[in-house]
Amino acid sequence: MERPIGMFDSGFGGLTVARAVIDLLPHEDLVYIGDTGRYPYGPRPQAEVREFARQLAWSLVKEHDVKALIVACNTASAAALDLLEAELPVPVIDVVAPGARALVRTTRSGKVGVIGTVGTIGSGAYGRAVAAAARVTGSEVQLTAAACPGFVEFVERGQTSGAEVTILAERLLAPVQQAGVDTLLLGCTHYPYLADVIGEVMGSDVRLVNSADETALVARAELEAADLLQVPGAASAEHRFLSSGDISWFADLGGRLLGPELRDAEQWHHD
Ligand code: DGL
Repeated sequence: MERPIGMFDSGFGGLTVARAVIDLLPHEDLVYIGDTGRYPYGPRPQAEVREFARQLAWSLVKEHDVKALIVACNTASAAALDLLEAELPVPVIDVVAPGARALVRTTRSGKVGVIGTVGTIGSGAYGRAVAAAARVTGSEVQLTAAACPGFVEFVERGQTSGAEVTILAERLLAPVQQAGVDTLLLGCTHYPYLADVIGEVMGSDVRLVNSADETALVARAELEAADLLQVPGAASAEHRFLSSGDISWFADLGGRLLGPELRDAEQWHHD
């Protein structure tokens, strides 16, 4: 029995990272938990998000014997990465540092923006991660951060376009527009599903980046370094999806967002 890669998010957002992981590592088994029963994480206190992250991570380790964990949620990465790295017996991969690297690599002017949940932006995690990425490349960057409360709820409802979401985006993106950023990082794994609206509001001169591809590359490098990469075999990879909310909605919307790998969802219960 091959051990799967474990992933979790507050809901559907981490599927943007799951897509990139499945595409880059098609032979790997995957277990994904979407904590849709308790989303959104963004407005919750950091201590509560840490506890949720710990429950999800340990469930993946104990019940699914995952060989590595991808925290496919910026809010949980910002709140709990240090704790998970200290506690878990497997490699832990986050989305904040990979996203920051993609942002610093893409900008030309050095004026960059990040949008995320209230929890992520309030934690200051991106300020630290972008400064660290800029130090490595020796580049000068000026970061403007804006919280976008409400975006996650639209995605969870399956509403990714239309007047309502556009009006909200115009209001919430004003600070990054006014700062004249040339590159905007979607610092919440739900936001790539709103990329059309965000791109339209920001204008075609602004490049949008997200952490999904970079995170998948980090996962591959970590697995390779630990000699845990699955070698291509005859059996096709198994992708399992669990949700703490309504599993028929998870399979329905999740299948539309991720693609054919998500046909069924199983119930996940926390202790
Ligand atoms: N996808 C989560 C993130 O990247 C959304 C958190 C939420 O549920 O508010 O932060």
